[in-house]
Amino acid sequence: MTNKNPAAIETIDLIKDYGRGENAVHALRGVNVSFEQGRFTAIMGPSGSGKSTLMHTLAGLDSASGGRIIFDGADLSAMNDNQLTLLRRHHIGFIFQSFNLLPMFSAEQNILMPLTLAGEKSDHAWFQLLVRTLGLESRLSHRPNELSGGQQQRVAIARALITKPSVVFADEPTGNLDSVSSAEVLSFLKQSVKELGQTIIMVTHDAVAASYADRAIVFADGRIVADEVNPTAERMSGLLMEERERATRAGAAPSITQLMADSPQPTIAAADGNVSFVNPGQAQ
Ligand SMILES: Nc1ncnc2c1ncn2[C@@H]1O[C@H](COP(=O)(O)OP(=O)(O)OP(=O)(O)O)[C@@H](O)[C@H]1O
Ligand SMILES: [Mg+2]
Repeated sequence: MTNKNPAAIETIDLIKDYGRGENAVHALRGVNVSFEQGRFTAIMGPSGSGKSTLMHTLAGLDSASGGRIIFDGADLSAMNDNQLTLLRRHHIGFIFQSFNLLPMFSAEQNILMPLTLAGEKSDHAWFQLLVRTLGLESRLSHRPNELSGGQQQRVAIARALITKPSVVFADEPTGNLDSVSSAEVLSFLKQSVKELGQTIIMVTHDAVAASYADRAIVFADGRIVADEVNPTAERMSGLLMEERERATRAGAAPSITQLMADSPQPTIAAADGNVSFVNPGQAQ
């Protein structure tokens, strides 16, 4: 890649095992990757390949079993719980597929929650810009159970961005959204990278969603198997298909997920009006 920006976050031989001995799951098998500041990166790959595990360890939500994570020059793996809490509070935003809003609080209170917890004041102009861009003006006093899925996710995105974090992690942020909401959310994420210099790392099962990113990485069995600059939906679909064929040749019996994936469902309308296809069984 030309004109490299400094790294926002990088991993060195990152390993994550769940369990021990014969039952151990090797979720990350020595991952070396660097994410530049001010770039939008998509992470794709089969179900169970380690994408969420990577996001959680990068965001300090889970500890690594080996290797190092360097966040803005500091070694995250050497930080204690207090330091990690402060890092997450001030420098990291996380968007989950299942929104994770607090049910007793209004949309506005949910958006402002990271600042409330930190005892900090909001930047009113930034709050207004987020709310307006995400189309939430008329929903601010509603609680999550009075909002649609798309509206809840837009609240969660505003909450992730309210502190102007160094890095935003998004784990299938459009997984529960209709096609129009998905396109709006992806356009907003892209805009926040282009215009505000935000750094975003997003897991997605949808090749069109990945095409909004500047770079797309394909994960398989705890390792990076492809790394594309300026990914197109066609290129990413091709890479995922190749990976599935390779896994099948390697002798893996097709799972119910893979069998279901043979009947693709339209999901996200691309900016050019095209429709993408996602594996319904893979979107967890
Ligand atoms: N808490 C856990 N305990 C044990 N194994 C786990 C745990 N979390 C994840 N795993 C295992 O680690 C591997 C990677 O899981 P991960 O959730 O990172 O996959 P993923 O790529 O995000 O999949 P999906 O696309 O389905 O969300 C899987 O084999 C999974 O079963
Ligand atoms: Mg996952």
